[in-house]
Amino acid sequence: SFLSLLLFLSLLHSLSLPSLPISFSLPLSFPSAADIISTVEFNHTGELLATGDKGGRVVIFQREPECKTEPYSQGEYNVYSTFQSHEPEFDYLKSLEIEEKINKIRWLPQQNAAHFLLSTNDKTIKLWKVSERDKRPEGYNLKDEEGRIKDLSTVTSLQVPVLKPMDLMVEVSPRRVFANAHTYHVNSISVNSDHETYMSADDLRINLWHLGITDRSFNIVDIKPVNMEDLTEVITAAEFHPHHCNLLVYSSSKGTLRLCDMREAALCDKHSKLFEEPEDPSNRSFFSEIISSVSDVKFSHSGRYLLTRDYLTAKVWDLNMENKPLEIYQVHDYLRSKLCSLYENDCIFDKFECAWNGSDSVIMTGAYNNFFRMFDRNTKRDVTLEASRESSKPRAVLKPRRVCQGGKRRKDDISVDSLDFTKKILHTAWHPTENIIAIAATNNLYIFQDKFN
Ligand SMILES: *[C@@H]1O[C@H](CO)[C@@H](O)[C@H](O)[C@H]1NC(C)=O
Ligand SMILES: *[C@@H]1O[C@H](CO)[C@@H](O)[C@H](O)[C@H]1NC(C)=O
Ligand SMILES: *[C@@H]1O[C@H](CO)[C@@H](O)[C@H](O)[C@H]1NC(C)=O
Repeated sequence: SFLSLLLFLSLLHSLSLPSLPISFSLPLSFPSAADIISTVEFNHTGELLATGDKGGRVVIFQREPECKTEPYSQGEYNVYSTFQSHEPEFDYLKSLEIEEKINKIRWLPQQNAAHFLLSTNDKTIKLWKVSERDKRPEGYNLKDEEGRIKDLSTVTSLQVPVLKPMDLMVEVSPRRVFANAHTYHVNSISVNSDHETYMSADDLRINLWHLGITDRSFNIVDIKPVNMEDLTEVITAAEFHPHHCNLLVYSSSKGTLRLCDMREAALCDKHSKLFEEPEDPSNRSFFSEIISSVSDVKFSHSGRYLLTRDYLTAKVWDLNMENKPLEIYQVHDYLRSKLCSLYENDCIFDKFECAWNGSDSVIMTGAYNNFFRMFDRNTKRDVTLEASRESSKPRAVLKPRRVCQGGKRRKDDISVDSLDFTKKILHTAWHPTENIIAIAATNNLYIFQDKFN
């Protein structure tokens, strides 16, 4: 199936997110910073796809139902709703600006007709309700149709208000705001499989929340040293186990993963398992620690494995083996000799995310030059693909790309020196049950699927 994915992965469509009205007047020769996509997330059935951007907006796409008469119509994702989730704020006590950038979005499992999602910027997590309305009440006794209070002297009889059909409207409303619990920047949120609680992680602490309670959270991990000068490590990502509500994992800037069991103690400062690979002393360099920092960690759907991404590799860990990863995949090993310049232009601190496919058999992660990589865990085949308008016309099949480092160069190969480091794919998502992937490339969202009707 991986082979067919290689052959048939084609651009479903590429979307520029609808711009904010304000930017229409600007000469948009390059994307404004606010339009840069900062997170992508499918809901649990893949029918909805949410993106967040640096401007604090959330755009939700909905997959159109299959249409027999029109070819290619299946699977199109169209804009369902757009709303402003976060606004820039100012922390007067610390004289700090708080960016509106959406760091993460997480869908809650659907429990009634409405959809709920959590979105977070650096400090504040919000719970949003997204619901549809196709009827409106008419015939109030005390209000007219515009909602103005009627002159009571004109009300002489009582009537029963009725619901009248109207055009479908998608309404988004803020339901809860979880604020004032993070001193440092929130990097992760994760909904627990108990569907009642979720956690939020910042650089030094992890808090546990009840979805219905905003004025209290429990601090379950705190790695802040008494003296900040002793700080050697920060939390980079955290996630709950998909089935066991007591288990969670968090990754660190030192390349370690810690599995915590909330049944052992209320405070999870002491981990149950520590996943760490001893460093090869012969490879030690100035950059070793920076490139071993884990930028993302994801449980497999089965719950048995962990997928992590560091600067140069993606790794799969078995929950039952702590001393080394089960599998290591080189994402762009050709950059090993370029670390010095990647340090100078700050690229070495880029935080690439990673994703599993629905059956945990293939993993995906991003790279530079708008390239993204896929690795088949069974056949060990891998591929580099490019998300770009020029190289991927709608319905055309994506061609694998190759980066060459000196030596024999084939036609269409791209040399390491001509890679564009400003074009990077940090955020990707894989549909939970099908071969549909969403790739965020700066201000563009690309959705690829492996077949069309
Ligand atoms: C995802 O969204 C679709 C489309 O609205 C909905 O039918 C489905 O129930 C959602 N799935 C979950 C698990 O929330
Ligand atoms: C050590 O460096 C070599 C070549 O530079 C590389 O192939 C190998 O994977 C590195 N080992 C580790 C443990 O990173
Ligand atoms: C990934 O998982 C999905 C869901 O199980 C499956 O349909 C798909 O074929 C898998 N993709 C590959 C390339 O194996």
